[in-house]
Amino acid sequence: MIAPPDSNMNGPGSKASEYHEATKHSEVSVRTSGHYLDWDNKPSPFKVYTALPLQDLPTDFLKPALNALIAISTVPKDKDSAAMGVDTLAELLFFSAGITREVKVQGRGTFYFRAAPATGALYPIELYVVCKKLEGLEAGVYHFSPGDFSLSRLRGGDWTRTLSSYAGLRPDISAAPASIVLTSMAWRNSWKYQARSYRHWFWDGGVIAANLLATASSAGLRSSVVLGFEDEAVNRLLGLRARKEAAIAICPLGMSASASGQPAGGRSPDELPPPIDPDFLPLSRTEVESPDVWEAHEASGLRDFSEVITWTKSREERAPSPTAPLSDRSYPLERTLQRPDEGPDLAQAILRRGSTRRFSPEPITYEQLSNVLYYSTRGVPLGLPSRETLLETYLISNAVKGLPNGSYRLDRASGSLEQLRSGEFRDVGGYLCLGQPLFTGASAVLFLMTELGEDLRLLGDRGYRAAQFEAGVAAGRMYLASYAQGMGASGTTFYDDQVTEFFSPSASKMTPMMALGIGVPGYRARFGRVLPKRLTREQMAAGSISR
Ligand SMILES: Cc1cc2nc3c(=O)[nH]c(=O)nc-3n(C[C@H](O)[C@H](O)[C@H](O)COP(=O)(O)O)c2cc1C
Repeated sequence: MIAPPDSNMNGPGSKASEYHEATKHSEVSVRTSGHYLDWDNKPSPFKVYTALPLQDLPTDFLKPALNALIAISTVPKDKDSAAMGVDTLAELLFFSAGITREVKVQGRGTFYFRAAPATGALYPIELYVVCKKLEGLEAGVYHFSPGDFSLSRLRGGDWTRTLSSYAGLRPDISAAPASIVLTSMAWRNSWKYQARSYRHWFWDGGVIAANLLATASSAGLRSSVVLGFEDEAVNRLLGLRARKEAAIAICPLGMSASASGQPAGGRSPDELPPPIDPDFLPLSRTEVESPDVWEAHEASGLRDFSEVITWTKSREERAPSPTAPLSDRSYPLERTLQRPDEGPDLAQAILRRGSTRRFSPEPITYEQLSNVLYYSTRGVPLGLPSRETLLETYLISNAVKGLPNGSYRLDRASGSLEQLRSGEFRDVGGYLCLGQPLFTGASAVLFLMTELGEDLRLLGDRGYRAAQFEAGVAAGRMYLASYAQGMGASGTTFYDDQVTEFFSPSASKMTPMMALGIGVPGYRARFGRVLPKRLTREQMAAGSISR
């Protein structure tokens, strides 16, 4: 075991747990917040560079045709990845962060919804591409603009080896034809959610990553998620503005099966990028900095190569989760086997997705719930130092045919739901989700929880990013698994401590990271567009109303 080396990996009591404590929702905190939304100063959801060379992405790309449940739960492993050209890149970007629906609102213009959900529809996450020369695209560092479906070139040349060196010489990054770097523009989300918005960086990033990984899987491309990297160096490579935006994850795509074991080669000093500061349109009239957000983020920063290596290698066996003895009421998951070329494909699941706004009282089946739980909780390729997953799933069942109403914990090892309590908890479920009636109406409410004290002990403050991000990925997969089976879903926020209390004693050491209601939608949902939009700059500037 390698001990956490310094102040930014100092375990419980650290900045991350301070931040988490300070941003918990409770009835008192919600009622006394006093924050009001300055609609005239709402940040634009589009980052528009003013003077970079721009290349339209093609719109005649293939749609991800693999069975959606297989796509979300598998990474192509045993053969070399399919080749990637600009058309595949366009498919990956569209199905993870493209505009898939537009809604006209009387008197307020048109609003553009995207492939993945986003807290408050504020879309804080931007996607950057760092690629070698691909068919149809020169090597370079690019920013993806979902509004006009284009790439803006920030740097020419192949920076993939440099990016890999910032992540401790990760061979999968240097071997990948392209990596997507997810960044967060802090003001977009803190405008509404203030300090709690830092959690949303990872939730909103994680749900995009869920779509991205699944689309890559459907395209036959290997992929992974890298959370350990030198923060400042990656931010500098992308030309991000300090204390305004920051990289949160790197997703290498399309590396060959044999690449993962090879060293990436040395880092040469001449590869260090000169600083760039490309101009982009301001997001809103004024910006208010959230110091709590930046303090939490910076406390979990990795400053140099050796810190990345130490974090990446800090392997220690995690003690088994201290759970209460299994109940005598155990319900084996009744998942259905999926065939790659049958059932709803990933494209349909993504294009049908849209957060459900009202659930019908109609029950879902235990088979549907089982498929959501089974296919969303395996194979999370986070490459974490300590173990495959940081999460445990708890749930409240309100209307699931074949499963008595009550509270449950998913036991991944045995593949069953262990009943904690039987009874009617519909109102409790709605209450835990900040009293939102939407979630009282859900057939089941799922809570993704982690043993945060252990995460921070083993992974330092950066473990906080990892736990939140993994929750975002799992929730994104749960959304897709629900829509693939004709159900609806919506992410939700929650009263933190009350969730732990409700599921205790089983969850007494667990901390909720994210929650999701699933069920039958109470209305007919509109299907998404098939082709990406090409908005004008004026349309991008205007398309920023929220619900
Ligand atoms: C992490 C997360 C938390 C969310 N929390 C809530 C919530 O508390 N209440 C709600 O009504 N919707 C919630 N949503 C749904 C968003 O409002 C929705 O994703 C956004 O409006 C975009 O719309 P779409 O999902 O239909 O594309 C959440 C979504 C995410 C990803």
